[in-house]
Amino acid sequence: MLQRVLPQSGRLLEVASGSGQHAAHFAAALPGWVWQPTETDREALESIADWCGGLTNVRAPKVLDVLATDWPVDGPFDAIFCANMLHIAPWATCAALMQGAARHLTTRGVLITYGPYLDDERPTAPSNLDFDADLRQRNPAWGLRRLREVARQAGDAGLALRERVEMPANNLTLVFGRHTAKGFDAPPDQAASR
Ligand SMILES: C[S@@+](CC[C@H](N)C(=O)[O-])C[C@H]1O[C@@H](n2cnc3c(N)ncnc32)[C@H](O)[C@@H]1O
Repeated sequence: MLQRVLPQSGRLLEVASGSGQHAAHFAAALPGWVWQPTETDREALESIADWCGGLTNVRAPKVLDVLATDWPVDGPFDAIFCANMLHIAPWATCAALMQGAARHLTTRGVLITYGPYLDDERPTAPSNLDFDADLRQRNPAWGLRRLREVARQAGDAGLALRERVEMPANNLTLVFGRHTAKGFDAPPDQAASR
């Protein structure tokens, strides 16, 4: 999916890299991209560095809390990727991610998020309803986010939902780009296919 959505090369910022497993897999599959992993949990940096050891296109992991006013990264980036954070973090991280993406993406850059969402247009899988209840019980600030409300936060930051891709196990990949007066500002090699 990333190989289809992304151009051949660029600079990517990963938010909430977790163990670093995603960074290792995706960076290896996207050799034209320079991958910058980040985590708010400082203790995860060692794991990320271990997973990505030997990959010359992965930069040393940095600490990044999306709620921080200033993100300590060297942008701008052609893409920002964030998997499985929005439902396991307070709702405020959604606006922070969108605003941060708007600050740090190039004009034609894309924000890509992945995870389970509640979509008012479609029935929610029972497994996602169970997951939502479990998350909220573990932490009342957590829970699956409504796609419509995520898109609204994106809109407030000057981004818009460009693509919604269904993924295995009732997850979605969402692709956001800047909203311009003419519509979406897509990378040149994607514009022709839209
Ligand atoms: C479920 S893990 C997902 C990790 C990885 N992306 C994955 O999909 O396996 C959620 C991650 O969000 C991170 N996180 C929570 N709050 C955050 C924040 N304010 N800024 C950045 N990351 C945050 C946590 O540290 C954790 O690593």
